[in-house]
Amino acid sequence: MKSKYIAEPFRIKMVEPIKTLSFEERLKKIEEAHYNLFYLDSEDVYIDLLSDSGTGAMSTEQWAGMMKGDEAYSGSVNYKHLVKTAQEIFGYKYIQPVHQGRAAEKVVMPIFLKPGKYAIANMHFDTTRAHVEIAGARAIDCVVPEALDTKTYSPFKGNMDTKRLVKLIEEYGAENIGLIIMTITNNSAGGQPVSMENMRETSEIAKKYNIPLLIDAARFAENAYFIKTREKGYENKSIREIVLEMFSYAQLFTMSSKKDAIVNIGGLIGIKDDEELYEKVKSNTIPYEGFISYGGLAGRDLEALAIGLKEGIDFNYLRYRIGQMEYLASRLDEAGIPYQYPVGGHAIFIDAKRLLPHIPYYEFPGQALAVELYKEAGIRGCDVGSYMLGNDPDTGKQLQAEFEFTRLAVPRRVYTQAHLDVIADALIAIKERADSIKGYKITWEPKILRHFTAKLKPIE
Ligand code: F0G
Repeated sequence: MKSKYIAEPFRIKMVEPIKTLSFEERLKKIEEAHYNLFYLDSEDVYIDLLSDSGTGAMSTEQWAGMMKGDEAYSGSVNYKHLVKTAQEIFGYKYIQPVHQGRAAEKVVMPIFLKPGKYAIANMHFDTTRAHVEIAGARAIDCVVPEALDTKTYSPFKGNMDTKRLVKLIEEYGAENIGLIIMTITNNSAGGQPVSMENMRETSEIAKKYNIPLLIDAARFAENAYFIKTREKGYENKSIREIVLEMFSYAQLFTMSSKKDAIVNIGGLIGIKDDEELYEKVKSNTIPYEGFISYGGLAGRDLEALAIGLKEGIDFNYLRYRIGQMEYLASRLDEAGIPYQYPVGGHAIFIDAKRLLPHIPYYEFPGQALAVELYKEAGIRGCDVGSYMLGNDPDTGKQLQAEFEFTRLAVPRRVYTQAHLDVIADALIAIKERADSIKGYKITWEPKILRHFTAKLKPIE
């Protein structure tokens, strides 16, 4: 059934023109980009769904806040406003701004991890995994098995598999597990939420084995909305209450504020009450990110972030935000287009393995669909599948990913219902000619993180 579109809880005061190239022009552009969407100029994209990170629209309040930037080197007014706001929202004593999520990871990971140690997460985001490995440790994903079945409904596919978590801790030895990480929402599984019950259980396990629990909080507000609307006992709690409870189960968080805090740049580290840990975080922040009262950001950015944190947890905003995702998903349901079901908070992950079953993983169905969407309607998404995963570092052989997704990440407060219809119509047109779509082969690739810069060619 078609989900009702929840009207925008804002009106539009400033616009940014976008244009559609002709079909022939798009064919030329994508060929020139070696069939890698990261090489496209943003001007040549009509609807840009490459990421929901740093791509949101700030509010009048946030823009007004930008004018109040106190650019003093130390102790700015905006820093104090940000710390106070974040303390209230998360219930943590210590708040450290940084320039984005991966900067928080760079500061925090080496405090807990070193060679011989492990981090266990429901799922690590790519940069989180990278920082675990840079610290010399190994990253283990431990998501519930429901996440791997894209067809069947389950309300919290982002959850930690707590039984397996206990097994892993016993197997590797609690003293060797440096961190347990809960990513909310679980980006890599399709923007899928984690339930409060699962947070609580995971925290009890962490406590029992004396392992610190860290929240990767990039999409914490969307996660809270899903708890409110899907988990028994939370329907009458406010988003603020839910957020406070979620964070009460962990000792610290790292956050990319470019998502749910709706800023174009920014990140945070939060520490519940451990003063010694805060001292270590400060010592790493100063050489990596700058003095503690600005953490790699301008005063004006700190102010926009303080305001964005509050706007991001507004129930009416979240209802509209998740409503957009549900509307888009319901249009795909009507057309029988498969995706990670139910739709997640920030993106729809189209199941390219099922839409293009004739393309094997080593010819990259997720990438083929992403290219096709650009050709069809100037829409830019990205592969989250074998193309992104890359080769086995030991044998050089292409690895097979668990999923073959094309991720369409929706920026916050940016596109309208009509844009969502353009996306759905494009996917429907592609489904009709799915049999004729060809796979791709790589003509050049770098050794690591190849999906950003590799060059491809369609298979004739
Ligand atoms: N953690 C999660 C769950 C993320 O999704 C991201 C970024 C980060 C950490 C790193 O934050 O980009 O501010 O350094 N995700 C973006 C995305 C890039 O498109 O999903 P960052």
